[in-house]
Amino acid sequence: MIGVFDSGIGGLSVLSAITQALPDANLTYLADTAHVPYGDKDDAYIQRRVLGIGQHLVDRGCRLIVVACNTATAAAVATLRETLPSIPIVGVEPGVKPAVAASKSGRIAVLATVSTAHSERLARLIRCHAGTVRVDVVPCPGWATKVETLQLDDPAFAESASRHLAPTLDAGADHVVLGCTHYAFLAPVLAPIVADRARLVDVADAVARQCVRLAGRVSGQGRLTLLATARPERLDAALVPLGLQSLASRLGAPAALADV
Ligand code: DGL
Repeated sequence: MIGVFDSGIGGLSVLSAITQALPDANLTYLADTAHVPYGDKDDAYIQRRVLGIGQHLVDRGCRLIVVACNTATAAAVATLRETLPSIPIVGVEPGVKPAVAASKSGRIAVLATVSTAHSERLARLIRCHAGTVRVDVVPCPGWATKVETLQLDDPAFAESASRHLAPTLDAGADHVVLGCTHYAFLAPVLAPIVADRARLVDVADAVARQCVRLAGRVSGQGRLTLLATARPERLDAALVPLGLQSLASRLGAPAALADV
């Protein structure tokens, strides 16, 4: 079984890509909804959550873990790997590499939570892969919460997002990296803002390919279990508004509460 987790529902964007790449895999998704958002918490807090959740997923029989959260990856994936040395762990990092490779203008933007934006891990990723391309790191406080509360077509948000992205787009950024798994669900709002000036970059498919490489031979029944640390019914209710009806058909039971 593969365990996938995030602070909330954002990681469902990664889960969806994994189910397409590994349709037979049995999957458990855990949303840490009692502690969302992670993006405004400090590293020690996020590490405690991530270690607890990692152990919980292993205790439930997961033999591959996907940290479907850029913020948790930046703050805690190294510690999680040290704590669970026998479990392959896939993290999610902003798609700086593909954006740099495709940029023609020599300037890209990375949208991220405050925690990821200030992380040493993102700074290192940029140092190692940006070369001569200029990277604008744009913290987006409150955006994950917009998704979490399913306010996906709020015109006031579209307006403020447009203002927020104007400086980097006006400066010539031609690729806008979605450096938080929640932001994949804001793509319908962001696409008209970047319009023909820039392309949105999401890494969910690349993460799914990495899962295929690490999963080995998969012999499951394509079953999905949804867990949340608070209000699990909100996970079931989010699937249709997020356009993830296909996940609903994999569910054997309603989402359940996880005591982590
Ligand atoms: N989905 C998460 C990420 O990829 C974090 C959002 C949050 O909890 O602040 O960074």
